[in-house]
Amino acid sequence: MNNKQLVSLMDQMTLDEKIGQLMQLATPFYKGSANQGQITGPMVGMGINDDVVRNSGSVLGASGANEVISIQQAHISENRLGIPLLVMSDIVHGYKTIFPVPLAIGCSWDLELAEKSAEIAAKEAAVSGVHVTFAPMVDLVRDPRWGRVMESTGEDSYLNSQFAKAQVRGFQGSDLTNDYDRVASCVKHFAAYGAPEGGRDYNTVNMSERELRDSYLPAYKAALDAGSEMVMTAFNTVDGIPATGNKQLMRDLLRDEWNFDGVIISDWGAVKELIPHGVAENEKEAALKALTAGVDIEMMTACYVKNLKELVDNGDIEEELLNESVLRILQLKQKLGLFDNPYRGANEQLEKDIVMSEAHRQVSRELASKSAVLLKNDDVLPLQKEQKVALIGPFADNNDILGPWSWLGSKDEAITMNEGLKMKVNASNFTVSKGCDIETSDDRQLTEALQVAKDADVVVLALGEDSEMSGEAGSLTDIRLPQVQLDLIRKVKELDKPMVSVLFNGRPLDLHGVMEHSNAVLEAWYPGTEGGAAIADLIFGDANPSGKLTMSFPYSVGQVPVYYNNFNTGRPKGAPDAQERYVSQYLDSPNEPLFPFGYGLSYTTFTYNNARLSAAEMTADRPITMKVSVKNTGNTAGEETVQLYIRDLVGEVVRPLKELKGFVKIHLQPEEEKEVTFTISEEELRYHHANLEFSSDPGKFIAYIGSNSRDVQAIPFELLK
Ligand code: NOJ
Repeated sequence: MNNKQLVSLMDQMTLDEKIGQLMQLATPFYKGSANQGQITGPMVGMGINDDVVRNSGSVLGASGANEVISIQQAHISENRLGIPLLVMSDIVHGYKTIFPVPLAIGCSWDLELAEKSAEIAAKEAAVSGVHVTFAPMVDLVRDPRWGRVMESTGEDSYLNSQFAKAQVRGFQGSDLTNDYDRVASCVKHFAAYGAPEGGRDYNTVNMSERELRDSYLPAYKAALDAGSEMVMTAFNTVDGIPATGNKQLMRDLLRDEWNFDGVIISDWGAVKELIPHGVAENEKEAALKALTAGVDIEMMTACYVKNLKELVDNGDIEEELLNESVLRILQLKQKLGLFDNPYRGANEQLEKDIVMSEAHRQVSRELASKSAVLLKNDDVLPLQKEQKVALIGPFADNNDILGPWSWLGSKDEAITMNEGLKMKVNASNFTVSKGCDIETSDDRQLTEALQVAKDADVVVLALGEDSEMSGEAGSLTDIRLPQVQLDLIRKVKELDKPMVSVLFNGRPLDLHGVMEHSNAVLEAWYPGTEGGAAIADLIFGDANPSGKLTMSFPYSVGQVPVYYNNFNTGRPKGAPDAQERYVSQYLDSPNEPLFPFGYGLSYTTFTYNNARLSAAEMTADRPITMKVSVKNTGNTAGEETVQLYIRDLVGEVVRPLKELKGFVKIHLQPEEEKEVTFTISEEELRYHHANLEFSSDPGKFIAYIGSNSRDVQAIPFELLK
């Protein structure tokens, strides 16, 4: 169908049918539909009838070729004009083959592998009948109390933008109309959902438009530049206006300024939430505000279907406005090929063949190994295969390692630490004991664990948060490991054995009680289906850790938010003329995080030699280059992520101490040396000024190059007019 035909299809639709296209319902509504007008099942709660289901435009959370085909078949036969449903699902870090959580994927700094993981997720989802995934989530995050930080790639807008593009490319491929093995992407949550006050989920977001544009918006924009077909609104307010009723965000910015012509969907229930937010008196006003502000599809509340007709009849909403939304939805269906084949990629045979294939699992294993971050290593890792190993802790044989948003993943298919380590060591050299549960313990568990530890050469502690402790609605004020696990560490430490802590969790933690007792600490995050195998590869040196943090680990929760690209302040601590007391500092804590952005160790060492700029001055027409030679000075092969940061010394508004402007991941054999080159052009020096103009200021800058945001070499340069 071409656009003209879509318009003529729309012309045949009644107002109710058009409004139905703007409604998204979850899968249970389509099971037991067609009761001919009777309100039953989940429809009762929402106060809608079968007509609404019959006219609806999209379904949320359907999966599996069989299920999707039967829902679609029934729908087409019941819908008067036979308009197929769009099938949307949260395929966030894998469909059934689960990859590490996105925060971990960020720590790989490996864009190619991130793209590959999204491609695999898309392929598994597409053959299982899914058309659109609610991903990538690109919210910038600076507060580890917020449980959803695990869904983002971290605290930096440049890095998040690169990953946003990689994921959109992976999900969508280059031709959605003909490639039935890819899915459309829906970037979320627009906007600034990652900055809730106090890290409490769904809470207020307050920031200047300048900050919004400089730090928070770039990753959404990057996803759209890469072609993301949809945008999901956020639950939070932005400057006092809920994002789901925010005309400035949707009509002015997304539509008019960025020319986005894809579909905007609300988050789950967010249209109706305009009432408790206090900007709508009732569902009718919520519908009026959301549609006027730009929401095309209402997810899982019924304000539109119950009220839009009256609003149009009364003239409160122009039918033309509603038609625009309907057309956008039909266009997406057309782009996905649904008018030609409403089942699209759904194919039970292919589903059997490719979902959770060995090849997919191998990519998951590789990504898990590249996502883990070695935080400390006092010469205990890698372990030798002949060492006697005691594996202890609530994650020793725990398959809760897929992380939140892995609803289709099977824990039973996940490789636990126990299973992973067993593949490497001789059974006679290996014992396992739980020691405690995640949040509780009993004496028997502890006694057994200590006995097991006593007989070993080295203890590997597998610790962490269960997956319910992060993710949506998983905010915490105390981000240390649960007390029983800290007690376990202390007790095992008393045996004075070399001790390695491996952490499974979804947020940067306060590591008091872990760092001081452990000889090595490996942050494994939620590593996905192949987690235990990947961690075993790292622990025994069959793989070399290369992950680097993309979110700072605070020294303690009292510092939060703590992030690398902060401002100097007027009274910076450590300045040559600083007073002792009246500087910007804590009396009881350092200012710096425990581990900064970009940090992560390897089993080998790298030296940075001969860092240099091609010239000390540049202009808008004459960019400069930064070169550095990086050498592997240890005796095992390894990967290093070389990072370029820039500081603008004097701006019209205050500029961050450092901003990531480039990174390159290189693989080096022992003694091998490679030269890395970055181009610094005037574009990289632009920022939003007080009047929101995006431009650069001539003057002095510093380029920093190094292996993390703290350990860098500095070289000054100047941008001339
Ligand atoms: C709520 C979450 O905030 C969002 O990320 C998700 O896509 C929707 N529910 C749909 O499941």
